[in-house]
Amino acid sequence: MANARITVHTAAAIDRIAPEVHGHFSEHLGRCIYEGIWTSDSADEGGFREDVVSLLSDLEIPVLRWPGGCFADDYHWEDGVGPREERPRRRNLFWAQGPEELPEESNAFGTDEFLQLCERIGTEPYLAANVGSGDPQEAADWVEYCNYDGDTELADRRRENGHEEPYGVKYWGLGNENWGCGGRMSPEQYAREYRRFATYVGTMDNLMLDHELELIACGFENHEWNRRFMEEVRDNKWGVEFPLDHLTLHHYYGRTMTVSEADEEQYDEFLAEALEMEYHIERIAAAIDAVATTRDIGVIIDEWGAWHYEANADNGLEQPGTVLDALSAAAVLDIFNDHSDVLTMTNIAQTVNVLQCLVETDENDAWARPTYRVFDLYAPHKGNEAVQTSIETPTRGLDGEDEEDLPFVQASASTRDGAVYVTLTNLDCREAHSVDISVEGLVPDAANVEGSVLFADHEPDAEVNADNADEFGARPLDVDVDGTLSVDLEPATVAAITIEE
Ligand code: AHR
Repeated sequence: MANARITVHTAAAIDRIAPEVHGHFSEHLGRCIYEGIWTSDSADEGGFREDVVSLLSDLEIPVLRWPGGCFADDYHWEDGVGPREERPRRRNLFWAQGPEELPEESNAFGTDEFLQLCERIGTEPYLAANVGSGDPQEAADWVEYCNYDGDTELADRRRENGHEEPYGVKYWGLGNENWGCGGRMSPEQYAREYRRFATYVGTMDNLMLDHELELIACGFENHEWNRRFMEEVRDNKWGVEFPLDHLTLHHYYGRTMTVSEADEEQYDEFLAEALEMEYHIERIAAAIDAVATTRDIGVIIDEWGAWHYEANADNGLEQPGTVLDALSAAAVLDIFNDHSDVLTMTNIAQTVNVLQCLVETDENDAWARPTYRVFDLYAPHKGNEAVQTSIETPTRGLDGEDEEDLPFVQASASTRDGAVYVTLTNLDCREAHSVDISVEGLVPDAANVEGSVLFADHEPDAEVNADNADEFGARPLDVDVDGTLSVDLEPATVAAITIEE
C-alpha cells in the first residue's frame, strides 16, 4: 500500500506558469562569464564557447539576467562597448575573474557580447542597471544604447558596434541587493532612489516603438524591509505615477554545509531550508498586496539556489554539482508552479561554473549538471496552466526546536490541451516511498501515460564530472495504471508523469 498520495485537482487552476520562471542568472564572477561562456581563445567569431552555447540553446532558457549581482552596482556599461582593445581594465570590487586571477575586469565581454549571446541561445535579456554607484542618466543612456531607433549619438554607437536594429531589451532591473552590496540603503532610501531612476529609465519607454519596458525593484528576504519599501515607493501623494512592474528577492540555502562531508540529517535540514522558498514568495507577495494588487506587480526571485560552504573558499564561488542540489531545485520548481499566480520570473544562480550552475566546464569540455536534468524534465510545465494538488506524505522531524518536519514527497501539476503534467520528488535520502496519484476527472489509460525518473542509480552526494555526466540523464519510470497511477520513488529521486487525454 502506498504511503504517499497526490490528488491533482484539474479544475482548480492557479494561473499560467510564466516560462520566465525557468530563467537564469550570470554574473562577472569567477569562471561564469570568462572561461565559462566567453573566451578570447574561442574559435567562435563572437568569442563564445560553442559547447556551452549548444547546451544552453538546448535548454531553451526563457530569460537571462546580467551583469550581476553585486557586480551590477559597480559596473559602468560604457566600459564594455566599442573596440575591445580600447576598453578600460577595471578592478572588480567584489569578485575574482577566474581561479588564478585578481579581482579585475577586462571588459572584453560587455553589452553587445551579452545581447548577442541572448540572440544566439534564443533568450530574453534582463539587464541590471547600476543604482548603488551609478546615476539615472547612465541607466537611461544604457536603455537608449540598447533600444533606441532614432538618430542619436548613442543609437549610432550601437550601430557602429555592429547592431543596426535596436535590441529591444524588455527587462530592466534598477539595482541589486541595494539593502547590502548595492549601497546598504534603508528601504525608504532605496524607494526614493528607485523612483528617481524609474522616472528616467521608465520615460525612455515613451521613445521606444513597442513601449514594453518592464522595471524591476530589489526586495529582500526581510519582509519588514519589503513592506517599508512598498509603502514609501508607492507614496503617491503628489499624484505622479511611475513604473514598477516586479519586486524581487534572493533566496540561497545550504551555506553552512559541504555536501561531501554532510550526513543525512544535514541533507534533511538543507532540503527544509530550500522549501522555505514558499514562505518567502508568500510574504513578499503579501507585502506587495498590502499596497497594490499582486497582478499589478509581479514577484521575481532573481537569484536562488544552493550555496555551499566550500564555494566561499575562493571568490570564484565554485561547488560540485550534486544530486542533492538537483533535488532541491526540483522541489523549488514545484513551489514555483504552485505560486504561478504571483511569480513572473525566477533566475537560478549562476548559469555556468558558479554556485548552482546548470553547466560546468573545463578547458576542453562542457557538461550538464544534475540540476540541468531537472530543468529539462520540468520544461513541459512552461506556459501551462498550473493546477492545485493535495499531498499526503510521510515526514521526518528535524533537530532544533523551531524547525518543522521535512515533508518527503513534493509535487506540482499543470495542464495543456487536455494533457496533465505531474512532477514529483522524493526528498527522503534514506528510503523509497510508494505514491498513488489520482487525477480528478480522468481515468487514465496505460497507453496514454508516460513516466521518467532522474537519479535512481545515484546517491545524493554523487558529483557530476566530464566523464560521468551522461549517466545522470532521465530513465523510463514504471507507472502502474489501475484507475489511479502508482509509482515507487527511490530515495532522492525526481520524476515526471505525462497523461495525455
Ligand atoms: O550570486 C552571488 C552573489 O550573491 C550576488 O552577486 C549577490 O547579488 C548575492 O549576494
